[in-house]
Amino acid sequence: MTTTESFASEAANSPTAPIVHLEDVGKSYGNIQALRGVSLSVRQGEITCVLGDNGAGKSTLIKIIAGLHDYTSGTMSVNGEERHFASPRESLDSGIATVYQDLALAPLMSVWRNFFLGNELTRGPFRQLDERAMKRIANEELTKMGISIPDLEQPVGKLSGGQRQCVAIARAIHFGAKVLILDEPTAALGVNQSGVVLKYVVKARDAGIGVIFITHNPHHAYLVGNHFVVLKLGRVALDTQRADITLEQLTTEMAGGSELEALSHELRDLAPDAVADVQDAIQAQEKE
Ligand SMILES: Nc1ncnc2c1ncn2[C@@H]1O[C@H](COP(=O)(O)OP(=O)(O)OP(=O)(O)O)[C@@H](O)[C@H]1O
Ligand SMILES: [Mg+2]
Repeated sequence: MTTTESFASEAANSPTAPIVHLEDVGKSYGNIQALRGVSLSVRQGEITCVLGDNGAGKSTLIKIIAGLHDYTSGTMSVNGEERHFASPRESLDSGIATVYQDLALAPLMSVWRNFFLGNELTRGPFRQLDERAMKRIANEELTKMGISIPDLEQPVGKLSGGQRQCVAIARAIHFGAKVLILDEPTAALGVNQSGVVLKYVVKARDAGIGVIFITHNPHHAYLVGNHFVVLKLGRVALDTQRADITLEQLTTEMAGGSELEALSHELRDLAPDAVADVQDAIQAQEKE
């Protein structure tokens, strides 16, 4: 092994400093405590999956990192610096790009316009839109990522849900995101389209981005994730690296683990009565 090789493997093994770090973060909406004592580290070149049931606090967590809401206790640091974002623009300026499930792109605008939305290229003294350059670059970037969209003039609304997510991911990579937040990117997609999106999630990671992947689906998370955080009722119920958990364990944890087992015992015990009640009700109705 040459010296360079040994250095490279040492660097790969040494944990890098987190790009986003939350310490004991809490968020209340009036008297609703949506998050409590949440600590989380997101590292570049890793996919951090945030899992949890409805109402667990996943969206609240990403809204804090994306600058939509401020946290009410604890600390958040980005690149080692403590931050309270006052707007999504501040988060974006710190290199954090967020792809929301439905709001990722403007449906009536063409693919290339969407690619440059908010970052338009201009030319000449009157700052005319440089359409030629934007079309060329959008085409190059999408091709580089292996995303095939035959006609970049067509409105984004005509693309499939999976293609839309891919365009949004390619755009975030092109504009130099350091952190990419994906809010349930596969939730509304079928198996094939989910596979395509998951492939680009991996490409974003391999481009050195720290990806935060929000999902309900432990199978999707386990396919791509390096790090898993399960939220339950606003608290971190599990925080583990991939090597320390199996898909079965992650699925059980998501489903409620021991709570689910207790519930199934309860249902088994309750079922005979429930069945009898239903039968009584039917008989009573028939007599009427
Ligand atoms: N703007 C708000 N005002 C008041 N309460 C809110 C607000 N947003 C979220 N909450 C509450 O905070 C808790 C966490 O909600 P959040 O949307 O973060 O959950 P989630 O994990 O994203 O759920 P889902 O999977 O359904 O999207 C819930 O009890 C919710 O009712
Ligand atoms: Mg949500």
